[in-house]
Amino acid sequence: MSKTKIGFIGLGTMGIVMARRLMDAGYPLTVWNRTKASGEPLITEGATWADSPGEVAAISDVVFTIVSDAAASEAVICGPGGILEGAAPGLIVIDSASIAPEASRAHAERARSKDVYILDAPVSGGPKVAEKGALGIMVGGSKEAFDTCEPILKELGSMVLYAGDSGNGTTLKVIANLVMGVAIQASAEALVLAAKAGIDPQVVIDITSLPGTGPQTGAMATRGPRMISRSFFPPHFSANNMYKDLSGAMHLAEQLGVSLPTVSAARELLRAVIAQGKGKHDSSEVVTILEAMAATSVGK
Ligand SMILES: NC(=O)c1ccc[n+]([C@@H]2O[C@H](COP(=O)([O-])OP(=O)(O)OC[C@H]3O[C@@H](n4cnc5c(N)ncnc54)[C@H](OP(=O)(O)O)[C@@H]3O)[C@@H](O)[C@H]2O)c1
Repeated sequence: MSKTKIGFIGLGTMGIVMARRLMDAGYPLTVWNRTKASGEPLITEGATWADSPGEVAAISDVVFTIVSDAAASEAVICGPGGILEGAAPGLIVIDSASIAPEASRAHAERARSKDVYILDAPVSGGPKVAEKGALGIMVGGSKEAFDTCEPILKELGSMVLYAGDSGNGTTLKVIANLVMGVAIQASAEALVLAAKAGIDPQVVIDITSLPGTGPQTGAMATRGPRMISRSFFPPHFSANNMYKDLSGAMHLAEQLGVSLPTVSAARELLRAVIAQGKGKHDSSEVVTILEAMAATSVGK
């Protein structure tokens, strides 16, 4: 039996790694990215280039999209030259961008009139996790489309969860990512306080990395060293993207009448990072705002 033909749109930090993994698993792959240069390495490795998202859709059975935000997802799915223009009935689109749940539902609704299924399938884990096929993937949309795509998703994720109706995947993602946003903020605060107290910030990383202890967090383990070595670019996960995700959490909280005081504070610091022109830097840049407030530095 021939393998499912996969299309891949959005070859940024995450997309390029996920697309490569699918190609390495033997799926015929057609790609498109707004900036063609980012697709060159994959083309060299054997992927086919298409000139628009619509062209990708026309020759694929399943199309992944992972672009920055809801506006970008709408552009590549519903816009001129977009997926819906080229799609044949029955196409399944897997949108792995972290976007607002209402945007996921709106895109799925527009696709339904063309008999195209959209699964919202955002991911947890960065590019290194994606390289190992160990992402967490939260999926909303048609159960039948999910069942069809589950084997493909399992090439990318060690946990692939069906979350229910359209928009439930992106809702779960907003909830999961607020933990990371707040934990990075807490890690930065701990390092700044240590620096001010005359304690080597590296020691804070060491003591909070002890497996099984309460303070151990992935945020400190992955972002703490970046804060000390000032490795803010290229980003692991940009301040712009974290601001978007925490804004998504605040929006959901407002709709439901829920207070999220620490999310709100973490978002303010990210706003300051962005105001300083560092939105494309890693979100661990929040440490520099706290350093300025405390007149100290955790850097080495
Ligand atoms: N990085 C992570 O660790 C991580 C982890 C989990 C989830 N995510 C989520 O995954 C998504 C992508 O993140 P990323 O880190 O891969 O971002 P990124 O490196 O900034 O890449 C963004 C991608 O979106 C494309 N794009 C942006 N605006 C577009 C538009 N208007 N039309 C067409 N394409 C557009 C970019 O194209 P160009 O190359 O032309 O700019 C690029 O391919 C985001 O929703 C993010 O929240 C990221």
